Amino acid sequence: MTEQEFDYVRAFVHQRCALVLDSDKRYLVETRLAPLVREFKFSSLSELITRLRNFPNNGLATRVLEAMVTTETLFFRDLHPFEAMRKVVLPDLIQRRADQRRLTIWCAACSTGQEPYSLAMLLRESFPQLVGWNVKLLATDISTEVLNRAREGRYSQLEVNRGLPATLLVKYFEQHGLQWQLRPVIRDMVEFRELNLARPWVGLAMCDLILLRNVMIYFEVETKKDILGRIKRVLKPDGYLLLGGAETTIHLDDSYRRVETLKSSFYQLIG
Ligand SMILES: C[S@@+](CC[C@H](N)C(=O)[O-])C[C@H]1O[C@@H](n2cnc3c(N)ncnc32)[C@H](O)[C@@H]1O
Repeated sequence: MTEQEFDYVRAFVHQRCALVLDSDKRYLVETRLAPLVREFKFSSLSELITRLRNFPNNGLATRVLEAMVTTETLFFRDLHPFEAMRKVVLPDLIQRRADQRRLTIWCAACSTGQEPYSLAMLLRESFPQLVGWNVKLLATDISTEVLNRAREGRYSQLEVNRGLPATLLVKYFEQHGLQWQLRPVIRDMVEFRELNLARPWVGLAMCDLILLRNVMIYFEVETKKDILGRIKRVLKPDGYLLLGGAETTIHLDDSYRRVETLKSSFYQLIG
């Protein structure tokens, strides 16, 4: 891959999904695109990039973007935020919404579904009082590939070994050969939808709780500011925002205050 081709891929990825690929990520680009060279039967990576330049809106373009995003995730990632949601955040929201009996949760950048399904299991296990409530759990991502996997709710042994307690595995999954299939009782609690955080968001309801974890780390400051600015318009005044462990609103948007609880940080809008 020439310098020029590498620059083209970086610009393409940045323009489409706001991801920043530093100039030292050439090896990453080559490694992630190599399987597509084989699959689409190109003679070289250069040929693939030429096709991408000529047809930047076809199926190959989508596959290139999907290959370049990092989709690492696991059940109950970082654990503490889930404990904080169970013990503090959700009880608080449930109390505040006791009249409306309605909760709206948005899990943005949900990857293959472990995060929203962790939350769905937590809701079912710990909040039986929500039966009869209108609980909407929306999970979105830019990649149709991960969304299709998420909708299936089928995970390998390795994936269920990462973060999922054995009691929940036995209760909510069925073994199908080498895979574990999530039962409909949890799967049906989550609605998956495609949404690019870097483009306008359409059709989002006002949210009580937003999980936006481990995706802003890949964006530049201006994109982070823009996204946090738009989160303000879909987060209810007393709602909670949860970011990834390495992410913060500090120095990006001062309309949020940090709420520390049970070894986790949540963000709420200032008055
Ligand atoms: C590292 S995963 C994080 C998954 C999950 N939130 C977690 O913390 O375990 C990042 C996800 O962000 C998605 N993503 C990257 N750029 C995006 C964008 N512009 N809009 C929406 N999702 C994006 C990727 O497809 C990927 O699934």
